[in-house]
Amino acid sequence: MEEKLRIYLDNAASTWPKPECVPRAVEHIIREAAANPGRSGHTLSIEAARVIAEARRQTAALFGISDPLRLVFTGNATGALNIVIQGMLGPGDHVITSAMEHNSVMRPLRAMELRGVEVSVVACSADGTLDPDDVGKAIRRQTALVVLTHASNVSGTVMPVSQVGAITSERGIPLCVDASQTAGCLPIDVGRDGIDLLAFTGHKSLYGPQGTGGLYVREGLEARISPLAMGGTGSASEREEQPLFMPDKYESGTPNTPGIAGLLAGIDFVASQGVERIREHEMTLARRLMEGLAAIEGIRVIGPRDPYHRIAVVSFTLEGVEPSEVAFRLDDEFGIMIRSGLHCAPSAHRALGTFPQGTVRASIGFFNTARDIDETIDAVASIAYNR
Ligand SMILES: Cc1ncc(COP(=O)(O)O)c(C=O)c1O
Repeated sequence: MEEKLRIYLDNAASTWPKPECVPRAVEHIIREAAANPGRSGHTLSIEAARVIAEARRQTAALFGISDPLRLVFTGNATGALNIVIQGMLGPGDHVITSAMEHNSVMRPLRAMELRGVEVSVVACSADGTLDPDDVGKAIRRQTALVVLTHASNVSGTVMPVSQVGAITSERGIPLCVDASQTAGCLPIDVGRDGIDLLAFTGHKSLYGPQGTGGLYVREGLEARISPLAMGGTGSASEREEQPLFMPDKYESGTPNTPGIAGLLAGIDFVASQGVERIREHEMTLARRLMEGLAAIEGIRVIGPRDPYHRIAVVSFTLEGVEPSEVAFRLDDEFGIMIRSGLHCAPSAHRALGTFPQGTVRASIGFFNTARDIDETIDAVASIAYNR
């Protein structure tokens, strides 16, 4: 029996497949060295701690962070964002964000509103673009934080992070960037971009396993951010109070050592390919997909046309057909896996004019090929002509 074609275009949710080195690294550490890192002084505990230290070093290098100890490992980007938003803000504080944020930013911010924090949501244009001057105009005396996604997971729009970083640095306001969609596929340098806090996830363009992520905290800012979780760190064990030094302040409990070993392998892979080369490959395919889709009657492609201003997340709508039906038919009839709906970002859809039905989202990864794209365009065309 002929095997059904299987095309994976849901890399913005989680990249798949992973490079072979990733499952190998996870299996290796589980089999050979998954002892508790930093707790015991024996050989295997030291080996587990070494893997985590190496992962910290390589992750820091990828983001231009000179001191790896400024980097905290978390379970995902959501965990990192919650440390910042819940740990830093209090009654009377004002925070600025954009209309393009994921619910991993919006929901903790809305919860903080109930605790007396004022939230300003800066509007974006119909292709998701943010004017950095609008962020500057929203700043008040009480502004304690600006939180901004690096790129939208709905429209692919890249936000003007370094321009906003220039404004916030000048005004002395910390800038927290949600790099969930960009870490590994768009160059990031925290110093150059004026980023004070960087939240990232491991299972997307860093090609690590799910359950990995992290937070960079600029030197000194830890004094202003309370930890969400407190407990054992393997350090300062004589004290019953939480350590105040980095990264232990925010790393209580046994870490996901196998996941971090896989993340290290993923980052190694990304570094060996080069972020710029990965971006070039993905954007060549994204351009091919956008052009192919735009030629189909009834298709509206969302987000900027200019590849310089976007990542390889391509959302579209098909007139007269619900996004969920397009997604179902692509999977069922053609073996093409994409995502439909609101993608956890209702505010972004309001800005883009695609609320409440959402979009069909095809998101490209390093392992996709031109053939995947051509098959997808043909499949969407077939659905469009048989609606
Ligand atoms: C822009 C953005 N922020 C945050 C997240 C949350 O990432 P995670 O589920 O890994 O915490 C996502 C995931 O889809 C995202 O796209």
